[in-house]
Amino acid sequence: MNTTQWSVDKNVDKILKYPQIEQAAQLLREGKTVAFPTETVYGLGADATSDQAVQGIFEAKGRPSDNPLIVHISSKKQLHDIVEHVDNQAGKLIEQFWPGPLTLIFKKKEGVFSDLVTAGLDTVGIRMPDHPVALSIIEAAGKPIAAPSANRSGKPSPTSADHVYHDLHGRIAGIVDGGETGVGVESTVLDCTVTPPAILRPGGVSYEEIVECIGYAVIDPSVEEQIEKPRSPGMKYTHYAPTAPLFVTKGSDKWLQETIISFQQTGKKVGVMATVETISHLHADFLVACGSEEDLSTTAHSLYDSIRAFDNEAVDIILAQSVEPTGIGAAIMNRLVKAAGHKWLTENE
Ligand code: TXA
Ligand code: MG
Repeated sequence: MNTTQWSVDKNVDKILKYPQIEQAAQLLREGKTVAFPTETVYGLGADATSDQAVQGIFEAKGRPSDNPLIVHISSKKQLHDIVEHVDNQAGKLIEQFWPGPLTLIFKKKEGVFSDLVTAGLDTVGIRMPDHPVALSIIEAAGKPIAAPSANRSGKPSPTSADHVYHDLHGRIAGIVDGGETGVGVESTVLDCTVTPPAILRPGGVSYEEIVECIGYAVIDPSVEEQIEKPRSPGMKYTHYAPTAPLFVTKGSDKWLQETIISFQQTGKKVGVMATVETISHLHADFLVACGSEEDLSTTAHSLYDSIRAFDNEAVDIILAQSVEPTGIGAAIMNRLVKAAGHKWLTENE
């Protein structure tokens, strides 16, 4: 498949009038797949109302068909045409966090979406992204747009058009390059069909911010555990994994340095990823500084690019230093632990 590429400056005025936007929207209306930036990660969009279009997403990504997709809209009022009921609590969350990195699960209206979008569930995840390129493409397409992250299934999500190109060129109809994404990890998925609302995936809006807005929320047990039947089907698959095995580490800088050396003594080339404060004390075969302890949103922003960087280096093992799991740190740790397939190295163990 020929992959058309466009570039658009997200800061221009009247972005909706740009020919790149109209051409990308035209492909979506024709039932094709187009990748575009959102504030979290790049999404691979297709018309959420068309079986054939949505099938294209699953094929391009190699995504298991029992993992439902998030539907993206360009205005709050669109929501009422596609879901059954928006209660006061959801209303408050929308008021505060949309457009933004919060996906809300609602009972879907029958007959709107392709069954492939929802993987046969009677609920659907909806979000309004906070990115002028995404919003204008969705508006110009005139349809709700299903859009998972635009990576091959199992790989880290793309935070630049280069990442998308690497994973999907030749497999999708178009890529709109709008520069690097901001947040760097995906949206928070919150199930509003249960009381109290349950976080199914930590992301760009923190647990603390949700509680501050509506007074309560729980973190679904599937987020922390590897349980048999998670409520968010995406939870059970390998995710975000680099080529070399990755371990999450927890311990002092001195212990981490000793751990690096002991792997090197067995002939292994060791890659390490940590905040700039920690990295500056370490020696290893390949070092990646990923954000700063002073502000973990910088770590989230660089997380996937950092994980991808190891695929270009001949390392045998990757050690990724854990961060404090509060605020955006909860999403960072969730992705790191998955990238590691739950493998930890801990001081004193
Ligand atoms: O930031 C994001 O959310 C990105 C950008 C592109 O918007 N999109 C994204 O989509 O991450 P995706 O499809 O890769 O993630 C969908 C997540 C999965 O964990 C899936 O299981 C869950 O949302 N999900 C979707 N619909 C659901 C539903 N009806 N019930 C429970 N979980 C659902
Ligand atoms: Mg994804």
